[in-house]
Amino acid sequence: MLKPAPVPETLLRVASTFGTPTYVYLENVLIDRISSLKKHLDGLPLQLLYAMKANHAIPLMKRIKQEGLGIDAVSPAELLLAIELGFPVDKILFSANNMTDSEMHFAKQKGAILNVGELSRLEKLGATYPGSDVCVRLNPQIGAGHHKHVITAGTESKFGIPVEQIDQIHSISQKYDLHVRGLHQHIGSGILDTDTLWKAINVMLNASLSFDRLEFINVGGGLGIPYRAGESGIPMDEFASKIVAPLKLFLSNHPSKKLQIWFEPGRFFTAECGVLLATVNTIKETEHITFAGVDSGMNHLVRPAMYGAFHEVVNLSNPDGPLQKYDIVGNICESADFFAKGRMVQQLREGDIVAVLDTGAYGMSMANHYNMRSLPAEVYVPSDSSKPILFRSRSTPESIVKEALSFV
Ligand SMILES: Cc1ncc(COP(=O)(O)O)c(C=O)c1O
Repeated sequence: MLKPAPVPETLLRVASTFGTPTYVYLENVLIDRISSLKKHLDGLPLQLLYAMKANHAIPLMKRIKQEGLGIDAVSPAELLLAIELGFPVDKILFSANNMTDSEMHFAKQKGAILNVGELSRLEKLGATYPGSDVCVRLNPQIGAGHHKHVITAGTESKFGIPVEQIDQIHSISQKYDLHVRGLHQHIGSGILDTDTLWKAINVMLNASLSFDRLEFINVGGGLGIPYRAGESGIPMDEFASKIVAPLKLFLSNHPSKKLQIWFEPGRFFTAECGVLLATVNTIKETEHITFAGVDSGMNHLVRPAMYGAFHEVVNLSNPDGPLQKYDIVGNICESADFFAKGRMVQQLREGDIVAVLDTGAYGMSMANHYNMRSLPAEVYVPSDSSKPILFRSRSTPESIVKEALSFV
């Protein structure tokens, strides 16, 4: 069974109007995902942030702002864009990994909340800005995720201050009169197992008891989504009973009555609202494999090459065609350049339009010009109108070369 493409007629219309390769984002799916999480977290003193590394497309960001979310920004440019778009700075967490001095000054000057994941940075912050507010990223020593490359806590992880070093956090904070407003963790991405998530949250909750002026606990993002037909993603009812209910209980007994709970998903909000459209250019039969070559590739969607990630591929032009087995490959000069291997797809013909599903997170935000190939166009489909809006044109060989020559 294939996962069906959302709004196939609209997607075909986008392909014929704007060509391919093109990322398409469906506003109604975005709103549905945000509402679903809000509903399941109902009753918590909550602040949702969006981890904009997942996708910083401007129409998505603007819509997310309207929903009252803050931002998790991990670089100066992400921080600047969030501010430009009007996200209030007191809802922007600046979580740069291995933060430099200049990044620290920049974030302080902009008024964002610094999220510090190294003792040495905490020391430098204190020495430079004594009396500052700060959020501290902890490593609860429990990690999880869909692939080892996206596990961001545990004994082998570079992220966060190991929870055993909490005494050092206190002593640096006292030395420089730092006000630890928040504690943060993010243990990984694409998590489906609520037990592991809860265990990690519980470590942080226990750690929080020794911080008497805490205003928020940020439990991170990482919520997994269903990439395959028949999957359900992170089970939301179980999430409510195993995580939200114990969190409420914890808060009711916590010495700080002002404590908020923050979540900062990326993928959960935007993955399912995105589709990458591509055209089949080449069908090549070999003894063992039928290759379908498309006008896109790992430079537009690196997840299959990088993580072996699964994305459903649907033939929009031949939806009732017989299922046949293909390796769906891109146009990049790397053998890791594939979207699907040995995959059953409705019969593909040269000229057909395919939809690569659930590509709204870590798709375009990880895209690049490798091989001096163009970046895809981007189209937004507002929920109150069926009229797709092209908000970013495809780059062209001329624009890429012009940029390259500008550095001479
Ligand atoms: C600090 C931080 N927060 C949140 C996220 C979002 O993760 P996800 O998209 O899995 O929700 C990430 C992703 O790497 C992250 O590094």
